[in-house]
Amino acid sequence: MSAGAVVGGAPSERRPGALAGQTVVVIGGSSGIGLETARQARSEGANVVLVGRNQERLEHAAREIGAQSSAAFDATDFERLDRFFDELPTTINHIMVTSGGPYYARLADMDFAWARHNVEAELWLPLHIVRRAVGKVRPGGTLLFIGGTGGRRPEAGTLIAAFTAAMPALTKALAVELAPVRVNLIAAGFVDTPLSASLLGDQLEARREQLRTTLPIRRVVGPADIAALAVHLMINTAATGATYDIDGGQQLVEG
Ligand SMILES: NC(=O)c1ccc[n+]([C@@H]2O[C@H](COP(=O)([O-])OP(=O)(O)OC[C@H]3O[C@@H](n4cnc5c(N)ncnc54)[C@H](OP(=O)(O)O)[C@@H]3O)[C@@H](O)[C@H]2O)c1
Repeated sequence: MSAGAVVGGAPSERRPGALAGQTVVVIGGSSGIGLETARQARSEGANVVLVGRNQERLEHAAREIGAQSSAAFDATDFERLDRFFDELPTTINHIMVTSGGPYYARLADMDFAWARHNVEAELWLPLHIVRRAVGKVRPGGTLLFIGGTGGRRPEAGTLIAAFTAAMPALTKALAVELAPVRVNLIAAGFVDTPLSASLLGDQLEARREQLRTTLPIRRVVGPADIAALAVHLMINTAATGATYDIDGGQQLVEG
């Protein structure tokens, strides 16, 4: 066998247009990491379908990147989510889910109604999507979830710590159950997105400056950094069942 030969599938080389003819669905695609991933997938030739709640923002994003279509709804409305999958005209190659959000509360401060909603968004939503992906996502494609490295510190918050521990295990179990569809998890640190801006308010610039000083990479991680990894995981058909840390080394230097 010649050097570099690949057994059991095509090699995963990244060439321009590596996603040509493929369909990528981004649930949470109108802002931040999801929008940037959709943009980079488009530039690799993919057709992209965007989901977000705010119709105006979604339509603006869809126009800006030349999305094939968009659908405005709350993804935690699981009946609506089912209809969305039923109405998709084609099979899909990849689905990325970026619509969740962190809940940093300690148990003592926890609003249980909001915590329950957060469980729906962070845990039930991926499971619903995976169920609907069976038969819709083509073999070799990936489901991509996003978690974080910050929640590995127990003091980050009760629920976020629990999800951070659970998601890699869930990803592994689903990768086995859904094969040959692939399932992967990206674990990000601070990413400079509208979500981060809204969480930090007037502390944003100070936080950026702190990260520029303390991170081993000496710069702030942006949505394009995460998007580049996401697109790589779509293209690289050897990647499944794994968690990919991308935090500029944040977990190495923060207590
Ligand atoms: N930014 C960070 O530092 C960071 C770090 C680690 C992990 N993450 C995770 O990465 C993901 C994306 O974060 P981001 O910073 O890119 O956030 P973002 O800029 O706020 O983008 C979130 C996107 O998801 C959509 N969305 C939110 N909830 C939705 C729902 N229930 N149904 C449908 N669409 C929904 C938003 O649009 P609408 O609001 O219009 O619905 C928007 O398009 C989140 O899960 C976040 O927890 C972020």
